[in-house]
Amino acid sequence: MSVAKSLPHDTGPLHVAGTARYVDDIPTPKGSLHLAFGLSPIAKGKISAMDLSAVKAADGVETVITADDLPFANDVSPSIHDEPLLSDGTVHYIGQPVFLVVATSHLAARKAARLGKIDYAEEAPILTVEEALAADSRFEDGPRIYAKGDAEAAIAGAAHIVEDTFEIGGQEHFYLESQAALAVPNEGADMLVHSSTQHPTEIQHKVADALGVPMHAVRVETRRMGGGFGGKESQGNALAVACAIAARATGKACKMRYDRDDDMTITGKRHGFRISYKAGFDENGHIQGVSFLHYALCGWAQDLSLPVADRAMLHADNSYLLPNARIESHRLKTNIQSATAYRGFGGPQGIVGIERVMDHASHVMGLDPIELRRRNYYEPAHEVADPPVAQKPLGHPDPHDDLTSRGAVEMGDAPVRPVPAGGNTTPYGMEVSDCELHGMTTALLKSSDYAARKQAVDAWNAENSVIKKGIGFSPVKFGISFTLTHLNQAGALVHVYQDGSVHLNHGGTEMGQGLFQKVAQVAASRFGIPLELVKITATDTAKVPNTSATAASSGSDLNGMAVKAACDTIRDRMADYLAERHQADPTIVTFADGQVSVGEESYSFAEAAALAYQGRISLSATGFYKTPKVEWDRIKGHGRPFFYFAYGAAITEVAVDTLTGENRILRTDILHDAGASLNPALDIGQVEGAYVQGAGWLTTEELVWDGKGSLRTHAPSTYKIPACSDRPDIFNVALWDGENREDTIYRSKAVGEPPFNLGISAWLALSNAVAACGTSYPALNAPATAEEVWRGIQRVKGDT
Ligand code: MTE
Ligand code: MOS
Repeated sequence: MSVAKSLPHDTGPLHVAGTARYVDDIPTPKGSLHLAFGLSPIAKGKISAMDLSAVKAADGVETVITADDLPFANDVSPSIHDEPLLSDGTVHYIGQPVFLVVATSHLAARKAARLGKIDYAEEAPILTVEEALAADSRFEDGPRIYAKGDAEAAIAGAAHIVEDTFEIGGQEHFYLESQAALAVPNEGADMLVHSSTQHPTEIQHKVADALGVPMHAVRVETRRMGGGFGGKESQGNALAVACAIAARATGKACKMRYDRDDDMTITGKRHGFRISYKAGFDENGHIQGVSFLHYALCGWAQDLSLPVADRAMLHADNSYLLPNARIESHRLKTNIQSATAYRGFGGPQGIVGIERVMDHASHVMGLDPIELRRRNYYEPAHEVADPPVAQKPLGHPDPHDDLTSRGAVEMGDAPVRPVPAGGNTTPYGMEVSDCELHGMTTALLKSSDYAARKQAVDAWNAENSVIKKGIGFSPVKFGISFTLTHLNQAGALVHVYQDGSVHLNHGGTEMGQGLFQKVAQVAASRFGIPLELVKITATDTAKVPNTSATAASSGSDLNGMAVKAACDTIRDRMADYLAERHQADPTIVTFADGQVSVGEESYSFAEAAALAYQGRISLSATGFYKTPKVEWDRIKGHGRPFFYFAYGAAITEVAVDTLTGENRILRTDILHDAGASLNPALDIGQVEGAYVQGAGWLTTEELVWDGKGSLRTHAPSTYKIPACSDRPDIFNVALWDGENREDTIYRSKAVGEPPFNLGISAWLALSNAVAACGTSYPALNAPATAEEVWRGIQRVKGDT
């Protein structure tokens, strides 16, 4: 079977050779035009006068478009129509598109875009949490509050209380391929759009609205993205709509791609958060209650901020059973780029909140941070109503069987926690029945040789005053499904040709994560044929309609199942036909090893396809899937938003130069739960990349806006993403040998986002190293840049 095999990415060779085709590589018709936006230089105000004569007169310029030239919708918002393609007279951030230049070359368009003479009546921008609160500048009328039990009373009665406020920075996506689109006008009112997007249906919808045509007149094709990371869920709308508008206006193909600086200046990023917390623990380190205040910096337009901020709330518990919890979330509207989806979709910010609480509490209580966490995990997995149809027993060690390695952290016997009255449930009322973390933690402590290394770190720190070492641990429990329930659906279209080759299409998009390969493995497995017979094709709104964004890590869960359904339909038709020919029962027909067998008789898959074709059997089918069991009320904050959870755990060791705050990761060990992996090689790649991206977010990647709201870190010269050399020197990544307890595609688990959160262990390791410099709690903000680490060192020494 093709599933569960460690096959390389299907277009790996093309990536390496530089021949994989991205939007900018598609050959364009002669006379194609190129676009660039003229941008607002101020963060808030009104346009009082606009003189674009110099733009129009510039070399190569064909036409210039403003809001007044848009005949239909001037709207690229994915949510509440608050995001005009071109400013309607008001500007909301530095970098907002105000006019559109259409020129004969990319360079000519960009040069001309700088020549606009625009007068603005400037207003004071809202940039900070304080300013937004003072002006009551927010999305939704007031805060959202999710609660379980009585947090305040539980904290008040607790033996140990920790309390603080800290900042979490946003993050630039830095996909290697910047945003890009190409629109080709077809006959009549039809438009073909190539877009680097995670959401072709959304592009189709927005382009149709902007052109004033039905969705059937717009076809969107996406072969691949050079990375998306959530940044191409909604942020590609503007480019695609601009290209379609310009193509309609000129009758020529129009292309737009953002230069890196423009991309960073114009598009939204991860939401920055401020989190205040107060938590109470009993003498044994069992958490009694916790209260969080989330302030999400959403930027100027709503975009996806509400579900992002919701997901932060839904992950405020991370892996811990909170008997009493209160989470209050404010979604603040500010005059910067509109913050958007980014790997984890708010989940990571929520998780950093509770990991900070655990770090702080273990420091105050003098308890080993891993032991404290373990005492507060959700109860171990138990069998659910419909147990897995496992051929082999679930491959995890019994979480209770290995108390010796609990001793490895020298905490003695862990006191037993009574399961609280509310049961083993999240603050939003969902029962946790699949917690793998007990066994995983035990296994990771062993494989990483934690106890010995912890001792070595302590010994090192006792001897060395300049370089300090630190070790950090973080677990993750991440909810899988879109919280907007109706998005949990997918479609597929499969054709078997009469030579036995297979054409595969589904609604998911490829952004480097390996989705196409995984889904092709599913198709090959259903037909029992070699993978080479399956043609992976571009995502196309004309083949599979009404798709959801490839997001929420659910690409393979949803599309894998839809493809399975389509393949099985064709397989059943072939089996019925062949069985009839042999006067046999269809159930005896098998598809394996490239052969279709009916009892003693065996055909190659190609022969079987040819026979079925001659027998006038349809060899084409659609497939559809919707995730079962999910239901969620986002206003009440109650229900089952997730089909299941994915788990992981990481241990990171760092070294810090205490004179400068400079630091590096020495070693990382990860154990991650991808269920019964569809493709372990790709999944390990996802875990490695996600970890490095998560660690980058919390360490070196710092977004800086000046007092006027101008993003000063808009290029790699000032914004530091991890380089190859920042990868841990020793990097051990393993997959947990388990199966999804829910009935997912081949019992696999989603893997795209959950391991991003494992990067939190790097931030905690830095906290641990800084703590070794003195006695107080380091209280690091995120990102813990070298400067922030240095400031932390001064804090623990009592110098500030
Ligand atoms: N991996 C690569 N190489 N490039 C990406 O852009 N995006 C991530 C993750 N892994 C991304 C990636 C994000 S944000 C998500 S939601 C998932 O992939 C989406 O794909 P999946 O649902 O197929 O896992
Ligand atoms: Mo991923 S942030 O759900 O695109």
